[in-house]
Amino acid sequence: MRATKAAVLLACLVAILPRAAPAQQPPVPEQIVDAMDKVYGVHKGFRANHAKGVVAEGTFTPSAEAASYSRAVLFAGPAVPVTVRFSDATGLPTLPDGAPNANPHGMAIKFHLPGGTDTDMVLNSLKFFPVATGEDFRDLLLAAAASPPDAPKPTAVEKFLAAHPSAPAALATVATPDSFADEEYYGVDAFFLVDKAGAKHAVRYIMQPEKVVHLDPAEAAKRAPDFLVAGLANRLAKGPAVFHLKAQLAEPGDPITDATKPWPAERKQIDLGVLTVTKVAADSAAAEKALLFLPGRLIDGIEASDDPLIAVRDGAYPISFARRLR
Ligand code: HEM
Repeated sequence: MRATKAAVLLACLVAILPRAAPAQQPPVPEQIVDAMDKVYGVHKGFRANHAKGVVAEGTFTPSAEAASYSRAVLFAGPAVPVTVRFSDATGLPTLPDGAPNANPHGMAIKFHLPGGTDTDMVLNSLKFFPVATGEDFRDLLLAAAASPPDAPKPTAVEKFLAAHPSAPAALATVATPDSFADEEYYGVDAFFLVDKAGAKHAVRYIMQPEKVVHLDPAEAAKRAPDFLVAGLANRLAKGPAVFHLKAQLAEPGDPITDATKPWPAERKQIDLGVLTVTKVAADSAAAEKALLFLPGRLIDGIEASDDPLIAVRDGAYPISFARRLR
């Protein structure tokens, strides 16, 4: 009887004791940067992703056609100076440039506009993205972190890839270029060009080089560890790297909010202008530390779509930036 009374008292006490609050998760962009740190380790002073890179300078000259799709000052002319950072994927600052996981390579551009404002574009060599949401990107990274070489099969990452067929399909679209100048880069996320009448045109950016030259994996593995990053100066000494900035136009029904779904190849592409990369920045290592590119750093005449990746990226990049400045 005594024991029963004690049990009832204990049950009452448990019922009225304050419950421990469920552990608070940080916002998804921070979870992603944490997951990148888990996969690649923390490398003081370097980006959580695309850690190895090189900064270059040049100009962007808009086409006459661009101004009929967007009222942005970027497309009104004249030419503007640009800062461009080319990079290898992963958070590993000493990864050999020819390593398979240095793909996709990145191209981030800062257009310096009259009046002192900037607008950015952040592209890579994947033709479309492996996953559609920040949550899935986090889970892909966590699966990679849980799949060391000795992990039993199927590994967490193999299971993730099997459950998300867009991921292996996207990863199959990349190859090592023979130079950062001979690669095509894709914006992947959709943006709107807004014309003078206020009409919005959904587009995805493509940065088209004069020629694409890809190496087969055996050839890429034989190249010097810094052949892309250090090789850019030699390549530019022979002449500028010229790219055409294209906008692929969506047609009604094309998916605007899912970066895993490429639009049909026959969709119209308009020429927005010519990007000319002329030289490597005088102190590339110092320049890249101070640079923060944001897919959502936009100006009047260019708007972000509701593709959820854009907001997640705009959240994650400043977190990585703040950590690498520490
Ligand atoms: C949820 C999706 C994504 C997340 C969370 C993410 C996250 C990040 C982070 C944290 C960085 C380091 C930023 C810094 O320290 O400045 C970074 C860099 C970069 N990302 Fe992403 N990324 C995503 C998708 C993409 C996509 C779709 C592209 C290209 C289409 C891309 C291209 C790049 C490039 C080129 C860089 C290097 C930028 C630079 O040179 O400063 N990322 N990303």
